[in-house]
Amino acid sequence: MRSPLGIVVTIQVFQSQNCSCSSKQNINMSQTENFKQQMSEGYTFDGPVIKIGAAMLEGEVQTGSIVNLPVKMFNRHGLIAGATGTGKTKTVQILAEQLSELGIPSMLIDIKGDLSGVAKPGEANPKLSERHTKIGIEDFAPGESPIEFLTISSEPGVKMRATVHEFGPVLFAKILGLNDTQTGIYSVIFKYCTDNDLQLLDFSDVKEALKFSMSDEGNAEIAKEYGKISPSSIGVILRQLAALEEQGAQTFFGEPSFEVHDLMKTRGGKGVVNILRVTDIQSKPKFFSTFMLQLLAEMYETLPEEGDIEKPKFVMFIDEAHLIFSKDTPKVLAEQLEVMVRLIRSKGVGIFFITQNPADIDDSVLGQLGLKIQHALRAFTAKDRKAIKAAAQNYPETDFYNVEQMITELGIGEAFVTALSEKGNPTPLAHTYMRAPKSRMGVLEQSEMDAIINEDVSGLIGKYKEDVDPESASEKLKAKMQAYEDKQNEAEEAKEQEKLQKEQEKIEDKRAKEEAKEQAKSDDQKSDVMGKVGKEVGKGFLNAAIGFGLRAAGVKTRRRKFF
Ligand SMILES: Nc1ncnc2c1ncn2[C@@H]1O[C@H](COP(=O)(O)OP(=O)(O)OP(=O)(O)O)[C@@H](O)[C@H]1O
Ligand SMILES: [Mg+2]
Repeated sequence: MRSPLGIVVTIQVFQSQNCSCSSKQNINMSQTENFKQQMSEGYTFDGPVIKIGAAMLEGEVQTGSIVNLPVKMFNRHGLIAGATGTGKTKTVQILAEQLSELGIPSMLIDIKGDLSGVAKPGEANPKLSERHTKIGIEDFAPGESPIEFLTISSEPGVKMRATVHEFGPVLFAKILGLNDTQTGIYSVIFKYCTDNDLQLLDFSDVKEALKFSMSDEGNAEIAKEYGKISPSSIGVILRQLAALEEQGAQTFFGEPSFEVHDLMKTRGGKGVVNILRVTDIQSKPKFFSTFMLQLLAEMYETLPEEGDIEKPKFVMFIDEAHLIFSKDTPKVLAEQLEVMVRLIRSKGVGIFFITQNPADIDDSVLGQLGLKIQHALRAFTAKDRKAIKAAAQNYPETDFYNVEQMITELGIGEAFVTALSEKGNPTPLAHTYMRAPKSRMGVLEQSEMDAIINEDVSGLIGKYKEDVDPESASEKLKAKMQAYEDKQNEAEEAKEQEKLQKEQEKIEDKRAKEEAKEQAKSDDQKSDVMGKVGKEVGKGFLNAAIGFGLRAAGVKTRRRKFF
């Protein structure tokens, strides 16, 4: 036994072996009092708190032994784990709505689409009243939180986008899973684009930039300033881009890019609960991790350093968190996420991972989580039992519970809880009977969701609705390639023209020569003919003259017939 109070318990239990029944009761009483005292000391804080339920001992709810979580430590992150149907989603709801009441906005990554109930008040019923009476909550009143629906797909809501430029070359290369050489090449292309005022906003910009750098002219132009880059490596980058495109990531990249300040709004003094519905993301772990990483990176970059805060600025709850650390997530991406989780707390941002099995979360991340809410785990296989043993060892030692055994026996809406005190020390482990959310436990009707979306109270749906496609790298590079092509065509045409001209001249020359030759020949022939004709004509005259002379002299001559 660790604590001095624990030692007292041991002595009393030892003494109890020889005692009467009434003193046994006293001992149990004192054990209970001791427990209550520990809980009270461990869960009373100076600053604002979130009430999540009452502590239990030996299966009994200790009415009034309230388990409070100090919001000051919510930027030290948390884990909500438990088998299916054990109460994780309701716990998220409880935390988000109380953060909202304290004016702290949050974001729920809603993978199953079961968190929309936050927007409407719940209904008081006898079962809930009984739960709250047991806990010691007398003032339960149903209520709702201001909400905003967000989307990164075609679902309705505030469209969250980011530009490729905002990712920067290193992060984008990591998302594409590029090796060092390919990352270097992509960085060169990125630099070329930045230096030449070619904005990389969406997928088509990156594609065009890669195609340009593969072309003879583009490759040569980039080589002049930044050194030669291999076209075959660029081909690999293009293929990786296509793989990310297949997961629908292109809808996420572009303008207008989402401003993280729009997540951190309050309405009527309450923090807005932003619900990002990503029900179709399960099959797209790479895209999901990409999105998460970008959002965290953007927050890290945008938000000021907070130092020691009284309450967090923003809390993010990631349901089905195993998706971002799945085996399909590139290792380097998971590593980057781990770094981001570590850094972002100084900006006053807390991240809560929700998962069925805590073993799904990387140890490096698990070690950073200050608040742990462990609902029941189920042991079906040897592997499950091993995971439960490991999970039990991650909790502070306790005199009151056999954690490993009890973890499989916790009731629905119960959990083992340990948080960080305002001084940063772990609070005693508390088997907690959780309160119910004030908001609706079920999901909204479609018509209720439509009404919220159509109303667009914040105006954010309108703000981010239209895709904007300004003149960026894609258009400029296409024009550049066209200009190259035109220039090349012109040059080729001029060459062709010159060739034709020469050919023409040759032909004309030849023709002229032939004509001259012909002429000469025909001239010769003419003079020949003329000569002959002259001779003939001469002969005719002569003959005629001779014939006339002879006939005149009385000599008979034979006349030609044709004369
Ligand atoms: N704090 C609570 N107060 C009252 N009822 C609760 C509470 N927690 C859980 N329940 C009951 O248990 C049901 C299941 O809880 P929940 O949906 O939170 O489970 P889950 O762990 O998120 O399950 P899954 O892994 O399937 O998403 C709820 O519909 C509700 O009836
Ligand atoms: Mg759930």
